[in-house]
Order: sequence, then C-alpha cells, then structure tokens
Amino acid sequence: MNRVRKLFSIIMCVVVAAGCLSGCSSLQSEKKIVRIALGQSETHPEYLGLLEFEEYVEEHLGDKFEVEIFPNELLGSTQKAIELTQTGAIDFTVAGTANLETFTEVYEIFSMPYLFDSVEAYVATMEDEEYMEDIYESTEEAGFKVVTWYYAGTRNFYAKKPINTPDDLKGLKIRVQQSPASISMTKAFGAAAAPMSFGEVYTAIQQGVIDGAENNELALTNNKHGEVAKYYSYTRHQMLPDMLIANDRFLESLTDEEERIFEEAARRSTQVEREEWEKQEKEAKDIAAKDMKVQFLEVDMDLFKNKVSGIHQEMLKENASIRDFYDHIQEINKRTRTDIVGNNKTIMKVQTTDTIRSSKEGELEV
Ligand code: GCU
Repeated sequence: MNRVRKLFSIIMCVVVAAGCLSGCSSLQSEKKIVRIALGQSETHPEYLGLLEFEEYVEEHLGDKFEVEIFPNELLGSTQKAIELTQTGAIDFTVAGTANLETFTEVYEIFSMPYLFDSVEAYVATMEDEEYMEDIYESTEEAGFKVVTWYYAGTRNFYAKKPINTPDDLKGLKIRVQQSPASISMTKAFGAAAAPMSFGEVYTAIQQGVIDGAENNELALTNNKHGEVAKYYSYTRHQMLPDMLIANDRFLESLTDEEERIFEEAARRSTQVEREEWEKQEKEAKDIAAKDMKVQFLEVDMDLFKNKVSGIHQEMLKENASIRDFYDHIQEINKRTRTDIVGNNKTIMKVQTTDTIRSSKEGELEV
C-alpha cells in the first residue's frame, strides 16, 4: 500500500514538473497554474480554507491564474513538497512548523512542550501580524516565505494502550514529526521517538511498528488513526500551527494589485479554516468516541509538564535565535493569563449575583 502510494506520488511529481515546464513556455494558455500541496484530505479544514483561497483568487484574477490543490500528500510527504516549493516546481505548500525547523531555527520554538499557557495566548501570538512578519520572512534565503497560518489544535498522545501518567509512556515507541525538538521532547517524556512522515503513521500503528503517536483529534478521524489506536490522552503538550508557504520568485512576480488579492485570499482562507476547525474538532471527538470506540482520557497535566520542565532552558541555551520570540510569547502568556483571570472574576461575580438572586427567590437550598 505504501509502495503504491509512493509510486503514485512520484508519478504526480513528474506530471507536475512536466506541467510546469510546458506551462512556463506554453503558447496555448496564458494562465499561470498555481499549485498548492497539502498533506490533509479533502474534508479537512485546511482543504476547505484553500478552496476559499482558490475561489477568491479565481474570482478576481481568473483570467490570469488557475489554482490547483493537491491534497492527501499527492505530491509526496510535506518535506518533499517543501523542496518542490523551494525550487518553484509548485507555488504553495501547507507545512507544519516542525517541518520548517531545518530551514530556520526560530521555528523550533513551537515544538517546545507547554510553550503557550492557553489557546488564547497561542492565537494572540499568531494574530500579532507585525511581530510574525519577521518570522514569516526568515526562510527567504531558502527560497520561500510564509504567507499565512492555520490553526491546528492541541497535540495529545494516543496509543493502543491507555496513557494516564508519564510512566505509561516508558518503553512505548511513539511516532513524532521529523524535527529534532519533537524528538527531544518525546524522549524527555520517557518514550522512544520514531520520526516518520504523517502519511506513514496509520500503517505503522496498525502493523505494530510503533505503539502510538501524538496529534490533534482530527488525526483520529480524517486520517483514521482512531481505527488503530483506541486511547487518546489529553496531555495538551503542544500547540503547533501549520503555515502556508509560497515560493519567493512566484511572490515577486506578482504585480502590487495581484499581491493584494493573493494576500486577501490567504487571510480569508485562514478565517474559513479556523471556523471549520471549531466545528470539526467537536465532530471528530464524537465520531471517534461513538463509531471508532476511542476512549478520551483526562490526565493530570502537571505530571507531564514536570517531566519536561527543563526543556525550555535547554533549548534557549542551545539556540539563541529563539530568545526574543520566547520572551515575546511569555509576555503574551502573562497578559492573557491576567485577562482570563479578570474574566473569570467577572463570571464569578455574575454567578454570585445570580446565586444571591436565586437564594432570595427561595430557589436554592441553603
Ligand atoms: C497535523 C498537522 C500537520 C502535520 C501533522 C503531523 O496534522 O496539521 O501539519 O504534518 O500533524 O503530525 O505530521
């Protein structure tokens, strides 16, 4: 199955490369074909976000551009698709930050376990466009840059056996993304790290090559991992965004007006993706629990947090280029923490007022 998949993706790459060559010198068509590689399936929020991108670009620039999305790792693993984007054989790829670590070290920061205090802090960081701009441009030398981000949930461990405490991870072989920081994290949790591409995970769990993996809930349903791993433990150890990266030369070839439209298309795709995520995360949990019989386990997160508490300082020592971004995120953590506490106080106040009112009305047993 895997060999068939690989062969198919090689054929697709050759077809795309040939298409690009003929497209570049084509006399019969004036339209530029804009190719986007995606590792996820056609029902995933990122695919739906990219459909919005396609529609917006074609609605406004349809006489010049035609957008083609290649889902399901059709053009090969994400790492391969990034290489194709570097050379300009394709124009865009959706890549997780773990895949970008080898191009600029600053992306390592997202692999730090328990980096963000809350989803609010994570989203506030990603929405700080002014700050993120420098990060987005940091891969320019490699021939590509980030144009927008996609929300990709919170990562948790799942396996064939229940994981309730870090001790349960001991001796387990867990798939991780192909990133040095993710490998160190998994080892610090006490498991053996098995780096491999996303598309290989299902078969590896099924055949017992690995015991489990770690990802968001959508991996259980969209990628069917819930068929082979029945225990999903809420360790909430990472929040990693996915990035839409674009070939530099392609971006530079755009006129100001075209650039504006591509930017707006990217912005809209992020918005649609986020809305879809909200819906699909809940649905995925329901389907995994009811149809796939996956058990969702709430664990004592502090036990897991303590296990990896030294990693932040270790990574900061080894990689000075993440210091500024790290401090920036800590500021946001602090600010959002205060906001959340502030909001909770308000909620508590409201509850207190309600409680007083209810008790006055005699609805509460005192
Ligand atoms: C998520 C994420 C992908 C990533 C994958 C993985 O699905 O959205 O970008 O490639 O996890 O674990 O490899």
